[in-house]
Amino acid sequence: MTLLTVQHLFIKDSWTNQPIVNDVNFTVDKGEVLGIIGESGSGKSVTCKALVGLNPKRLSVEGKVTFNNVQMLTLSEMQLRKHRGKDIAMIMQQGSRAFDPSFTVGKQLIEAMKVHTQLSIQEIEVTLTEFMDYMGLNKPKQILKSYPYMLSGGMLQRMMIALALALKPKLIIADEPTTTLDTITQYDVLQAFKDIKLNFDCAMIFISHDLTVINHIADRVVVMRKGQLIEEGTKEAVLYQPQQEYTQYLLSTRKKVNDYFKSVLRGESNA
Ligand SMILES: Nc1ncnc2c1ncn2[C@@H]1O[C@H](COP(=O)(O)OP(=O)(O)OP(=O)(O)O)[C@@H](O)[C@H]1O
Ligand SMILES: [Mg+2]
Repeated sequence: MTLLTVQHLFIKDSWTNQPIVNDVNFTVDKGEVLGIIGESGSGKSVTCKALVGLNPKRLSVEGKVTFNNVQMLTLSEMQLRKHRGKDIAMIMQQGSRAFDPSFTVGKQLIEAMKVHTQLSIQEIEVTLTEFMDYMGLNKPKQILKSYPYMLSGGMLQRMMIALALALKPKLIIADEPTTTLDTITQYDVLQAFKDIKLNFDCAMIFISHDLTVINHIADRVVVMRKGQLIEEGTKEAVLYQPQQEYTQYLLSTRKKVNDYFKSVLRGESNA
């Protein structure tokens, strides 16, 4: 069953008239993980932000976005806010940026849950604690009392995911959620996403430069280049038998970069 349909999505910079995204079309099925790959500046983030109205006003959006039978591009800011977080959760590159430094993490998460649920504060705390536990965050009570600067980037990212799960969204959009984390934390966070895929009835759009990450998590993959979607297929088809020359190039350069870093990490002097 289709959960999200994006049809003829066009995004342009209304100040310069510069086109950014050109006629992008894709779908996401219920429970499916769609991976988006493509070079920097190809339009991956603006495309995903357009789905929930998170781009700056400067960027004009046209097309049709149907999420769970709702026409997203016709909604007002007030109506969009009801969907953000509750039905569609966004998890961005730097979880830490989502937090206000002047309030405790707990206060911010409780506020976010109050907006979207009818639960009492006690019930919210129980739910949050349960999902923090699930995300491997020990001593949840102590964490909730902490200010963001007291927690690591990986912990804050896991808090964001715990909040997302507690709200039981139908779709999680994860935009490079592991990029700023160190390797071990990246691995943990990726495992958490894999776990979510197995245990929650929740679809995902997963943007990553890291093809190993995409290989681990995606069911289907789309490739973006210069604002267009140039290849689409199952993960196996796109990553192992790409049809487009550009995808082949992207995969080979990524492989070279990965091999290079691996050899540097092994301490090979001729790397
Ligand atoms: N606020 C903005 N105003 C004007 N142009 C913008 C704005 N945000 C993004 N763009 C333009 O849109 C294009 C696509 O940006 P986007 O952030 O979607 O790229 P991306 O594929 O996510 O890249 P990366 O992999 O580096 O995150 C870029 O060329 C950028 O210049
Ligand atoms: Mg981006």
